[in-house]
Amino acid sequence: MATDFIIEKTTNSRLASVDFSNIQFGHTFADHMLECDYADGKWGAIHIKPYGKLLLSPATTALHYGQSIFEGQKAYRLANGEAAIFRPKMNWERFNKSAKRMCMPEIPQDIFVEGMRKLVGIDKDWISPSKGGSLYIRPFMFATDEYVGIRPSEHYKFIIFCSPVNAYYNDPVKVKIEQHYVRASEGGVGEAKNAGNYGASLYPASLGQAQGYRQLLWTDGKEHKWIEESGTMNVFFVIGDKVITPNLDGSILDGVTRNSVITLLKDKGITVEERRISVDEVVEASRNNTLKDMFGAGTAATIAPIVAIGYNDGELVLPPMETREISTWLLDTLNGIRYGTKEDKFGWMIPALN
Ligand SMILES: Cc1ncc(COP(=O)(O)O)c(C=O)c1O
Repeated sequence: MATDFIIEKTTNSRLASVDFSNIQFGHTFADHMLECDYADGKWGAIHIKPYGKLLLSPATTALHYGQSIFEGQKAYRLANGEAAIFRPKMNWERFNKSAKRMCMPEIPQDIFVEGMRKLVGIDKDWISPSKGGSLYIRPFMFATDEYVGIRPSEHYKFIIFCSPVNAYYNDPVKVKIEQHYVRASEGGVGEAKNAGNYGASLYPASLGQAQGYRQLLWTDGKEHKWIEESGTMNVFFVIGDKVITPNLDGSILDGVTRNSVITLLKDKGITVEERRISVDEVVEASRNNTLKDMFGAGTAATIAPIVAIGYNDGELVLPPMETREISTWLLDTLNGIRYGTKEDKFGWMIPALN
């Protein structure tokens, strides 16, 4: 059964005023958004309407008690001219995991995936045509009870809006191993994509940035011994002929890019180990020159090779870019699939709806 949408198209498109070669990440918004409200135990009608501001009560519970979750994914313009979204079902499944952990209602696939396909179909001309360009998609949900007091809200708002973007990092990335602050801990909410995780990371990240590090490399909350993930990326290390990435232990995000990287590497016959990896192991591999590559993997950055890792008062310097065979191959392969120039053998690109 086709999903029903109530569609109100803008009569005042802003598209012609956008210079796609000159957009800053996350600052420009496409013409339309999708909105759907939850009340009386069920989701209501799905509206697609002009992008615009929200009117909220000061007592909106999400603003006070943090029931707020989001996703981030991208649509691309394929070589054949079609618009397609990268693995939207995985984001939908993760969104519902986050919802469950934050005591929020799950959302049907119809609203999340089909709604996104419809929205992107309507705003497909907002996919940035620049090299490395795409349309970043931001689905999110927050509690809308007008109430002061701590309990799960009974009302929620789900919204999807889109933002044309170009490449995220233009220069090589340095990360710093965090040895004091904690992003997430065992039994906490690290694997949920809830707003509070990001709010809590801002202060420690700002300290790292003041020292010249773009992102922190988080370690476990108990001992600061085990590597977890970076700001908005999962991380991979190439040590000898193996690729190692921290296992999903409940405190790191189950990244869609991470999953795609593992799938592509295994398909190429490369050994991938999902396991605990200690700071000591990385330091040791760097010292004995077996640390060949390290990269972050995430929707915004795609594959971001790391040039240096700050640790204690020193820095582990990674091998030069021209030797980074694995990260270069991954970026090339993922881009090929996303822009439709390489075979999409896993069926990852899902077309937008007209
Ligand atoms: C904390 C964190 N880890 C990892 C990732 C990478 O996940 P994905 O590949 O699904 O974008 C993100 C970005 O969503 C993130 O916010």
